[in-house]
Amino acid sequence: TWTMVNIVEEQVERIRAEVGDARVISALSGGVDSAVSTALVQRAIGDQLTAVFVDHGLLREGEAEQVKQDYVAATGVDLKVVDAREQFLGHLAGVTDPETKRKIIGREFIRVFEAAEREVLATPGPPVKFLVQGTLYPDVVESGGGAGTSNIKSHHNVGGLPEDLEFSLIEPLRTLFKDEVREVGRQLGIPEAIVARHPFPGPGLAIRIIGAVDEERLAILRAADAIVRQETTAAGLDGEIWQFPVVLLADVRSVGVQGDGRTYGHPVVLRPVSSEDAMTADWTRLPYDVLERISTRITNEVAEVNRVVLDVTSKPPGTIEWE
Ligand code: XMP
Repeated sequence: TWTMVNIVEEQVERIRAEVGDARVISALSGGVDSAVSTALVQRAIGDQLTAVFVDHGLLREGEAEQVKQDYVAATGVDLKVVDAREQFLGHLAGVTDPETKRKIIGREFIRVFEAAEREVLATPGPPVKFLVQGTLYPDVVESGGGAGTSNIKSHHNVGGLPEDLEFSLIEPLRTLFKDEVREVGRQLGIPEAIVARHPFPGPGLAIRIIGAVDEERLAILRAADAIVRQETTAAGLDGEIWQFPVVLLADVRSVGVQGDGRTYGHPVVLRPVSSEDAMTADWTRLPYDVLERISTRITNEVAEVNRVVLDVTSKPPGTIEWE
C-alpha cells in the first residue's frame, strides 16, 4: 500500500543518513521482525550490512533453508551463516528443565553471535558501528513498564542480542505493529513463507520436546509439525490461528495397535491457539475434518508417534508453549 511504500522510503533515507560509511551487523532469527528490519537496512546501505544467521538446529522443517536460500535470493543481503547445530545439541544433551534449556540456548546464541561479530570486525573496511534490532511498537510499549506476565518464563529472545554497547541500535520497525511489518516485508519482496510466519519462540523446538532434546526427537517433531502446517495451510486456517505449537511428549509412551502389531510410541500434542497479543489465548476450535486429517497423517507417516491429542486449555491457566 501507499503508506507502506512511504515507510520504506522514509526509513531508507533515515538509515542512510545515520549510518554514513560505517558498517552494520544484524542477526537473522528466521522470524518476521529480524527478516524485515534486516531487509530494510540492506535496501538502504547494501553491502555495508552483514547479516548473521546462527543455525542452532532448532528451527522447523525447511525454515533454515528459507533463510539461507530464499531470503538471500530475494533481498541480496550479505549473509554469514554459522552452523552451530552440534554445539547447541551438545550443550542441551540430557537437559530436561525448561528454564535451563532457555538459559543454555540464550547463552550459546550470544557466544556464537559474538564470535561471528569478531570475524566481521576483523575484515578490512570502515568501522562497524551499528546493530540492527527488529523491535516493534508493542515491544517498546511493553518494556516501558507494564509488569505483564513476562517474568513467568524467561522469554529470552534469541533474536535479541548481547548488550554490547560499542554499537548503536538501528530499530527501523519501532513505530510499527506486526501487520504493518508484514506489509513492509512484502514491499521489500521477502518471500511470503517468511513474511506470513506465525510467532515462533527463540528457543525453537527445544521447548516443544518435553524431555531431553536430541537429533532423533527433533526429527520426529519436525515431521509431525510439517504435517500440521501443510494441513492447516491447505484448509485456509492460517489467518485465524495465532500460533500452532506441536509438542512431542518424548518421555511418555502409550500402547497402540497398527497393522498386525502392537506399538509403543510417543504422543504428540496439538496446541492451536487464537490470540491478540499472546498475553491471553483461547484454544482454536479447529474443524473436525482438519483434526482428523492431521491425526491420520501423523500416525501413518511418523513411525514413532502412535497417538495425537488436542490441548483444550485457554491461557490462563495454560501458557501457549508447554515449557
Ligand atoms: P507462553 O508460552 O508464555 O508464550 O504463553 C507467549 C508467547 O511467547 C513465545 N515464547 C517465547 N518467545 N523466547 C521467545 O522468543 C522464549 O523463550 C519464549 N517462550 C515463549 C510463545 O511462542 C508465545 O508466542
